[in-house]
Amino acid sequence: IFPKEVEIIEVGPRDGLQNEAVFVPTEKKKELVRKLSKMGVSRIETASFVHPKAVPQMADAVELATFSNELGIDFIALTPNLKALSRAIECKVPQIAVFVGATETFNQKNIRFSISDSLEECSLVFKKAKACQMKIRAYVSMGFSCPYEGNVSYEQVERVVRHFVETGADEISIGDTNGQANPRIVYERFGQLKEDFPETIFVAHFHDTNLFAYANVVAAIQAGITKFDSSIAGLGGCPFSPGATGNVSTEGLVKLFHEMNIATGIDVNAMNEAAIFAKELLNK
Ligand code: HMG
Ligand code: MG
Repeated sequence: IFPKEVEIIEVGPRDGLQNEAVFVPTEKKKELVRKLSKMGVSRIETASFVHPKAVPQMADAVELATFSNELGIDFIALTPNLKALSRAIECKVPQIAVFVGATETFNQKNIRFSISDSLEECSLVFKKAKACQMKIRAYVSMGFSCPYEGNVSYEQVERVVRHFVETGADEISIGDTNGQANPRIVYERFGQLKEDFPETIFVAHFHDTNLFAYANVVAAIQAGITKFDSSIAGLGGCPFSPGATGNVSTEGLVKLFHEMNIATGIDVNAMNEAAIFAKELLNK
């Protein structure tokens, strides 16, 4: 049941840095992206076209996207609304990412929209992005539980996923935004999603709040998932999810996969160099 290889998507420059209170200078962010690009990862999430007042750390999205293009890497940038998409189009972003919460309270706090208004906006974003030949990633946040509403049902997640599938997302990343999932719910939820949406590409996005993230990764693999988001040095968190901690770390994930004889395509030495740089950058 174990795959020969998996894809790791590095989200450190976006999810990793967005929760950092002190602004990381743009030049340092670029250096981090450059180091990450050397480790042979297929895609890096490098920018977020959100409102600079909502997340000041991501205010230099234009510079990061422009730099990512100069570097020639395949990169992802967050675009929660049409305004964000216009900014991304100007920067020639190859792959966008929208994000909608499975719960009303979180979605309101995060992007100040109801779930249905968000989904409607996403349809417009997808249409325009497709016309520009951009690839589309769609996140479902709070895919297992929510800091405001507690347990999240399969039906809540399915509603958002169905909309993303019907409007043409290229892949859907299910986020354990607040890091409260456990291997059983992960196995059952991904199993059900794969049964209900057999043609859809799903990605698992774990935050390691309860130190269950690696167990959750293995449960996701057993449910047939082969794409994982992770963050160098385990940085990360969502400013609108109180108590949420970093993503599962890229180094931990790579070590786990390599010891399980599952290829990642990642160069361990280059990865370790990037991890040291990230830790020094943030004094961790
Ligand atoms: P809003 O204030 O409701 O927007 O923000 P609005 O449409 O009412 O517009 C107000 C003003 O903002 C207008 O300007 C707009 O043009 C401007 P004015 O006319 O007053 O001068 N505006 C923008 N400016 C720059 N960029 C934009 C933009 N949109 C409108 N994109 C908005 C709505 C969504 C923009 C805001 O709430 C926001 O930026 N939220 C971001 C929240 C965020 O970044 N959260 C973290 C990422 S999600 C996450 O971490 C989860 C994930 O990792 C997966 C997981 O773990 O589950 C992805
Ligand atoms: Mg996240």
